[in-house]
Amino acid sequence: MQTERGEATHGITRDGEGRLCCGGVPLAEVIRTAGVSTPAYVYDLDAIAAVGRRLSRALPRGSVCAYAIKANGAGPIVRALVHEGCGVDVVSGGELAAALACGVLPDRVVYSGVAKRDDELDRAIAAQLRGIHVESVEEIDRLAARAAALGARDVGVAIRHNPDVEVDTHANIATGHDEAKFGVAAEDIGAALEAIARSPRLKLRGLSAHVGSQIMREEEYAAGVTAVCELATAVRAQGFGLRYLDTGGGFGVSYRDEHATPDPTRFVATALAKMKEHGHGDLELVVEPGRALVAAHGVIVTRVIQPKVSRTGRRWLLVDAGMNDLLRPALYQAHHRIEPLESKPGEARVAWRVAGPVCESSDDFGEYLLPDPPPALLAIRDAGAYGRSMASAYNARPLASEIFVARGGIAAVRTADGLAETIERELGLTLARGADRS
Ligand code: LLP
Repeated sequence: MQTERGEATHGITRDGEGRLCCGGVPLAEVIRTAGVSTPAYVYDLDAIAAVGRRLSRALPRGSVCAYAIKANGAGPIVRALVHEGCGVDVVSGGELAAALACGVLPDRVVYSGVAKRDDELDRAIAAQLRGIHVESVEEIDRLAARAAALGARDVGVAIRHNPDVEVDTHANIATGHDEAKFGVAAEDIGAALEAIARSPRLKLRGLSAHVGSQIMREEEYAAGVTAVCELATAVRAQGFGLRYLDTGGGFGVSYRDEHATPDPTRFVATALAKMKEHGHGDLELVVEPGRALVAAHGVIVTRVIQPKVSRTGRRWLLVDAGMNDLLRPALYQAHHRIEPLESKPGEARVAWRVAGPVCESSDDFGEYLLPDPPPALLAIRDAGAYGRSMASAYNARPLASEIFVARGGIAAVRTADGLAETIERELGLTLARGADRS
């Protein structure tokens, strides 16, 4: 892909010699140069920035592409997106602090979440965000009380609506149906508006909805947008002023074939068209995509530890990345392509069941056609979103290193903790210097 300024943005591609590359640099070389051990996340910052730039430019002035930082909160990524004009969608005080530290303007930050603590509400009030997205009438009363305690005025609020829209996605990532804990149901909107009007300190600025993740078709996105627009019509008819409508994220990506990934700007175009159609073309639009900006532009490089071939014929390929590094297969039965870093033409491939070292049966990435004998290094594709951000240190495994590639080189490396740091943090003990690095 070529950007408007002419620089190449490669993403993850295979070169003429069969080497898998990130941002045009062979991944094997990236790992070697960075000097980190595997598993390691590798990201193409230029490709991520290019998506942020396209989405920002697809929006009219005042409207915001608020990157859902939960997808990947790494500083170099968030800073690159903020630099391209993106705002940030946060769901905790920690994410809020991180977003502000990356230089985003508070007016470009929205904050959702069903159970924000008082200290988190206080932080959000003090930061003067574009909107605190409230998810229940009870929360509005708590927010009003905190605003009064802090003596704050003009606290921007948006009601996150639960429009009871079903999307065709995994049950664990559908959020807009009436059984979900998220958002204010249609029957409670009146009470929510009253609660906001009761407080002289809160100011209704917007309405939002996020109906789920992995939406592959615009029509499904349009269903959520229509629900927000219809609500806006009703709310404005009651005399409430609005500044923006937030139609959420959820722009899908294909985990099997990147060419099947919908162009994310199509979701933006759909939302803008629907707003116009409903007579809300005067309002600003906020969208909250996470995955669409980062998923395809990150991989996990993992090393094959050994095969294990059982007498019954099952061929396990045991690797050093596990469910603690990428939880999606275990949690959502997600499929991520797994490929050799270097592939040679005509090499024999067999079905391997790829599994990690974690002491859980669900630490199993599924079956893949891979060379036999297996290569030393593999890439787990599309791990840029919800990989490192959902990682854990389960089984006393350190959070893996991250390498950020930009402009044909390594722009930054975040190195995994060594054994000494892990022991020190977990046990409060200090290992003798060098004990983990013999
Ligand atoms: N806005 C809100 C209010 C959300 O709840 C979410 C995701 C997003 C935006 C961003 O959604 P995206 O554009 O990334 O699909 N861990 C799961 C996804 C959980 C998403 C939760 N909320 C996964 O790995 O598929």
